[in-house]
Amino acid sequence: MAELRSRRSNLAVPGSNPRFLEKAKGLAADQVFLDLEDACAPLAKPGARKNIVAALNEGGWGDKIRTVRVNDWTTEWTFTDVIEVVGGAGGNLDCIMLPKVQDAGQVQALDMLLTQVEKANGLEVGRIGIEAQIETAQGLINVNQIAFASPRIETIIFGPADFMASINMKSLVVGALHPDYAGDPFHYILMQILMAARARGVQAIDGPFLQVRDVDAFREVAKRSAVLGFDGKWVLHPGQVDAANEIYSPSQEDYDHAELILDAYEWATSEAGGKKGSAMLGDEMIDEASRKMALVIAGKGRAAGMQRTSTFTPPES
Ligand code: GLV
Ligand code: MG
Repeated sequence: MAELRSRRSNLAVPGSNPRFLEKAKGLAADQVFLDLEDACAPLAKPGARKNIVAALNEGGWGDKIRTVRVNDWTTEWTFTDVIEVVGGAGGNLDCIMLPKVQDAGQVQALDMLLTQVEKANGLEVGRIGIEAQIETAQGLINVNQIAFASPRIETIIFGPADFMASINMKSLVVGALHPDYAGDPFHYILMQILMAARARGVQAIDGPFLQVRDVDAFREVAKRSAVLGFDGKWVLHPGQVDAANEIYSPSQEDYDHAELILDAYEWATSEAGGKKGSAMLGDEMIDEASRKMALVIAGKGRAAGMQRTSTFTPPES
C-alpha cells in the first residue's frame, strides 16, 4: 500500500458558518472537510460555496488535508458545487468527498467532471482526489467496484447515520452498541469497507459519532474500527480530535516494537546475520510475515510523525 498521509482525525466543518471555517484552521486535525451537504441547509448552499472558496484561498490550513464534501448525484447541486469550488479554489484543495455513493458510475461521473473543470481552469489534471462515502445498502453491495472506479479514489468512508437509516436499524444512537444484540452491529459493514479499501490500496475511514460531549463513548466506538485496521475517523467537535489522533496511531510501545522487528529481520536475512528466513527477537519468532505486519504499524507511526525510542543491536555471533 502506498504511504498515504495520515487521516486519523477528519474534522467536519459546515461551509455555511464562516466562524467555524476560521476556527477549524487552528485545530490539530489531520484533515478537514468543508461541508456543502447535510450540515448545510438547502437555502444556505450557494453562500456556503462562496465561504468555502474564500476560506481555501485565504490559506492558513497548515499541512492539513483539505477536502470539500459536495452534494450527492441525486440532487440538483453536485455539478454547481464542483464547478464553483474547484473552479474557484482548485489549486488550494486536495480532495472532493462524494456522499451516498451508490455505484462505480457515480464515481466515474465525478472523475469526468473534475477533469473538465481542471482543464477549464488550467489546473493539473488528476491531482484532486475523490473520497467515496458508503452510506446505503446499495453502496455497500457495490463497494468493491466503487473502490476501483477511478485512480482518484483516496478513501472509502463509512457514513453510519445515513447507513442506519438505509437499512432500518433499530437505534438512533450512531455507532453505539445495542442492548438487544450482543455483537457489534457495524462489524460486517466496517469489514466490507475495509476489504474494498485494502484491496484497492486506499484508506478506510470511519464516520461520525454524534454524541459530541461524550468523549469516552467516542473512544469506545473509535477503538472498534481502529482495531480492525481503519485509518481514522470523523470528528465533529474539537473535543474529539485528540482522542482520534491517539486511537488511530499505534501506541509508542507497538511502534517501537515494529521498528525493532524491521531492523532485526533485515539483519537476520543479511549475509552478516546468516541469511536466515526466521529469527528470534527476544522470545518472539519473526519471519517475512512479521516484517509485513511490522511495516503496517511502522508506516502508520511514521505517517503520524512518531519518533522511535528503541535501537537495534545485532546479537553477538
Ligand atoms: C455521514 O455522512 C453519515 O451519514 O454518518
Ligand atoms: Mg451522511
